[in-house]
Amino acid sequence: MFDPRRFVQEAVPEIKVQAGGGKAIIALSGGVDSSVAAALSLKALGEQLVAVFIDHGFMRKGEREEIERTFEGMGMNLRVIDASQRFFDALRGTRDPEAKRKIVGETFIRVFEEVALEEGASFLVQGTIAPDWIESDGGIKSHHNVAGLPSGMVLRLVEPLRDLYKDEVRKVARELGLPPSISERMPFPGPGLAIRVIGEPTHEKVAIVREANAIVEEEIRKAGLKPWQALAVLLEGKSVGVKGDIRDYGYTIAVRAVESVDAMTATAMPIPWDVLKTIQKRITREIPGVTRVLYDITDKPPATIEFE
Ligand code: XMP
Repeated sequence: MFDPRRFVQEAVPEIKVQAGGGKAIIALSGGVDSSVAAALSLKALGEQLVAVFIDHGFMRKGEREEIERTFEGMGMNLRVIDASQRFFDALRGTRDPEAKRKIVGETFIRVFEEVALEEGASFLVQGTIAPDWIESDGGIKSHHNVAGLPSGMVLRLVEPLRDLYKDEVRKVARELGLPPSISERMPFPGPGLAIRVIGEPTHEKVAIVREANAIVEEEIRKAGLKPWQALAVLLEGKSVGVKGDIRDYGYTIAVRAVESVDAMTATAMPIPWDVLKTIQKRITREIPGVTRVLYDITDKPPATIEFE
């Protein structure tokens, strides 16, 4: 039986030993994994720790503001860096899912290295959890915080959550007193909305999927449903619609909600029809350029949870 209190008691001194008195930066994304890694590292390293939130432009709606509120409130030394243009430039013309993941991962680490240099940090703390490296080792898809690491990296890695699964990370989050908006937060991939747009993630498409994703998460929450994850994906191509008696030729949003214990396998969740209809109506009404909403009924396997 996993004991979060004991985990914290052991992890804190372990981080201290690993960072050996050096200055560390933490890759804070606002997701539960990196937040727990940050809160643990703050306990271990205090002033020695700088939390860096890199806004790559593929964050969820309001995510950056929420992170600023939460972590500044904890007394964390937080630096917020808007690198979105750099990521968009790096991804221009890129359509392949693995290429997108690698570019986001590499750009991420490059930006971190620059900040680390400025800060004089020699350690990078990451919230990598077990399924991240298990799936990357298995060649299924390169999880952003694993295979994205360039070989010439000068920072040494500290990964205090390496052996944990998501439900265990949430227990540690509660143990550390993180707010429910973080401890119960739905998982979100490191490359963010860049992989929630099939094909090239343009500014227009990212803005559309950001709105759609916010609607999906909000309606699922309002309905009292607790899936492992609920998300929106912007598919490629357009289809014909009709809005206000006028022909419209717009994008298609796929909605997905899954139940899972550890993300290694997942089951498509039977969302009540009225909830699905509310989601569809809000998406097609509130987001110009979207004419169609689909619900993904595929389990994992054979599909993965994310589309890319
Ligand atoms: P898949 O799509 O592989 O996703 O079935 C399994 C779980 O992992 C999340 N995911 C990621 N998490 N970096 C992360 O930290 C990533 O690059 C990444 N890709 C997928 C996904 O949202 C799901 O919860």
